[in-house]
Amino acid sequence: MGQEVSSLVHTPVLLNETIEALDVQAGGRYIDCTVGGGGHAAAILESSSPGGQLLGIDADPEAVKTAQARLEAFGKSVLIVNNNFVNLEAICIKHDFMPVHGILFDLGLSSQQLNGSGRGFSFQHDAPLDMRFNPEQRVSAADIVNASSESELAYIIRTYGEESCGYRIARRIVRERPLKTTAELARVIEQTVPRKGRIHPATKTFQALRIAVNHELENLEAALKQAVRLLGFEGRLVVISYHSLEDRIVKRFMQQESKGCICPPGTPSCICKHTPCLKLISRKVITPSLEEVSRNPRSRSARLRVAESIITQDEWCETADRLCFLGATGARGWKKPPMLKERLKITSAN
Ligand SMILES: C[S@@+](CC[C@H](N)C(=O)[O-])C[C@H]1O[C@@H](n2cnc3c(N)ncnc32)[C@H](O)[C@@H]1O
Repeated sequence: MGQEVSSLVHTPVLLNETIEALDVQAGGRYIDCTVGGGGHAAAILESSSPGGQLLGIDADPEAVKTAQARLEAFGKSVLIVNNNFVNLEAICIKHDFMPVHGILFDLGLSSQQLNGSGRGFSFQHDAPLDMRFNPEQRVSAADIVNASSESELAYIIRTYGEESCGYRIARRIVRERPLKTTAELARVIEQTVPRKGRIHPATKTFQALRIAVNHELENLEAALKQAVRLLGFEGRLVVISYHSLEDRIVKRFMQQESKGCICPPGTPSCICKHTPCLKLISRKVITPSLEEVSRNPRSRSARLRVAESIITQDEWCETADRLCFLGATGARGWKKPPMLKERLKITSAN
């Protein structure tokens, strides 16, 4: 495989750890909210065979095509949809795909998007300043760079890039614009901020613009809340993030949803009435081994967190049985998953 082609093939990160964290079982149903090149999805389908089912989602129509081709051999066990995971619940209702045994988010970008999409995700390849996961989104990176006020730009670069030189970069962008390509933007940033070590000075600004264009943080927060409602009995939520802003959201969400009362300290008696819906499976974040990082340097910043739904078995069986009974899951010819049958047998025997 030539250099060019190999840099376009996405290597799934923390693959074994993901399968273990999802606790993939034969006959289980799983959602991959960021199906990308289909690497994690293929491993989930293999590990859940026989009878496993997977719903794959991706906002990028090109990724959907790649995943469909990669997962074709799994036939009717897999359904891939082009949508944003911010619509997770609506997608599952439309496709009668709930409750589920596991949900995966592998956030960020695939190698194909970074190196071969021509959509301006990387300053290492000259391309139009676009950065939209889905080309049908209204606002591109060029719109933000060329139409925002200096203070709006500074806010975006500081907040989403955690870039301490955000004001300086914003001022220089405003002076030099219009900027149409990644090379033009990277050059302006390089002339403004000195290079520190091996990290290119445009790295944080590019991250900031991508997050702003795709509303990444807001969408993640909204999708996590929906994901919990779709998990069945002992269903697992697994999230792999690649920068501290994402990881902070995931960590806080999992911690908060695994607690009872979340009233501010000092509140005389509970007013929030919050009840936990998750339990943390691993308190410590899971990171790639040195061996994985040397094999796949893009994995170096990955952080995996996992939690489990604490919906009761009865509640789970009730929802799942009602859905199966209504024929909802029969819409694609899918039968009651074997795991569910087993659990129903156990419940009715008691
Ligand atoms: C790191 S890649 C996933 C790679 C995949 N796990 C694999 O093994 O090939 C992240 C994918 O998530 C998609 N994505 C990012 N944000 C999304 C969102 N809000 N909704 C749907 N897909 C999203 C991107 O388009 C990209 O294809």
